[in-house]
Amino acid sequence: MATDNDLLNRTRAAVWHPCTQMKQLETAPPLAIVRGEGPWLIDIDGRRYLDAISSWWVNLFGHCNPRINAAITDQLGKIEHVMLAGATHEPVVDLSERLAHLTGLGHAFYGSDGASATEIALKISAHYWRNAGQAEKNGFISLTNGYHGETVGALSVTDIPLFKATYAPLLRHSVQVPSPDARMAAPGESAEAYAVRCAAVLEAHLAEHAATTAALIVEPLMQGAAGMAMYHPAYLKRARELCDQYQVHLIADEIAVGFGRTGTMFACEQAAVRPDFICLSKGITGGYLPLSAVLTTDEVYAAFYGDATARGFLHSHSYTGNPLACRAALAVLDIFEHDNVIAANRVKAIEFTRVLAEVAAHSRVRHFRHLGMIWAFDVADTAPGFSTRFHRAALAQAAFIRPIGNTVYVMPPYVTSADEMRGLADAMLVCLSNPDI
Ligand SMILES: Cc1ncc(COP(=O)(O)O)c(C=O)c1O
Repeated sequence: MATDNDLLNRTRAAVWHPCTQMKQLETAPPLAIVRGEGPWLIDIDGRRYLDAISSWWVNLFGHCNPRINAAITDQLGKIEHVMLAGATHEPVVDLSERLAHLTGLGHAFYGSDGASATEIALKISAHYWRNAGQAEKNGFISLTNGYHGETVGALSVTDIPLFKATYAPLLRHSVQVPSPDARMAAPGESAEAYAVRCAAVLEAHLAEHAATTAALIVEPLMQGAAGMAMYHPAYLKRARELCDQYQVHLIADEIAVGFGRTGTMFACEQAAVRPDFICLSKGITGGYLPLSAVLTTDEVYAAFYGDATARGFLHSHSYTGNPLACRAALAVLDIFEHDNVIAANRVKAIEFTRVLAEVAAHSRVRHFRHLGMIWAFDVADTAPGFSTRFHRAALAQAAFIRPIGNTVYVMPPYVTSADEMRGLADAMLVCLSNPDI
């Protein structure tokens, strides 16, 4: 067995870690994780860390979940993978039917991760308009500070300068309209009024540019990478009306917020809107295997159906619809159903919010906010490097937390207990009360 240092030296030499300036690993080595157990990560020395951010928001029912393990193990004895062009299999058909039932959309097209789902939705939307004889409708609108992934097409509609600016020459132009982030409301203005005010800017843009616009893409109710920016459902409602009025697709990127994160199975439900496209990933497999899906309307699907090959959607990924990933996703949907997870989380969330009351009341905390199984706050008077210092200090308190800028958030696996949440609250209080962080 390698020692801690062996593994860290080897990872630095052999692995290029994501979203990381590798030089920083000289002073801040990554955790060497060997095992997971429910919401806990266990390192090579047996130290335990509560995975408070669900491993980049993917884990729903804990690490090493026996029910998901059993489904994947069962599938391993049948077929691990077969290409999905020219072949099909029961797990992908079952999953597509169940996702259609849950979303009200159909014709599931699969990718391997969130960014590929964004690419697929953007391409189908523009291709739809082309097939409809309106090829000039190929522009995209997104929200300021929005995040939709980092492949070149997805990055074109992402609006986070840290990730985007360097690659500007590679990207296609897109238009950003103001985010309805409730923190930006004027003094005395409600989140709802601010959302409606932002939607008026969207309307003004559409009134002028609908003829060259294919779609509006949004993260419904919460912009994660923007720092858990939450907004009122009135924006989605109005965006749906405007997209209908101006003949522009509405793409709901539910990659981060889908599968119960915001308190409903899908965030769009809270605005009672049905998008033209829904992008799903992350929690879809409970955090087990890379899988994404894009579902759309019969109308969009029908525009591709015909005798001409080029009219079809000729996009593909080698692992599209992987049976192991589909079985993991089916096991996740079974858990939602059998354990009545959405209702159980509602009760749990009330308790967790109570547990976090002391954090919310801390003198350094601003804009404490909560939606479903997400809690976030901004920290006042932070010096550069806050997020790294907070992360390291939280690790010393057995909590794996990675703030985004000065926003601290927890988005725990749904199997986290109130006692474990109390531990997280205590860890955050220790960090907040340290004047050096
Ligand atoms: C809203 C949203 N869209 C897309 C993505 C990209 O997903 P992936 O990292 O799997 O490519 C993310 C990832 O954080 C996301 O939060």
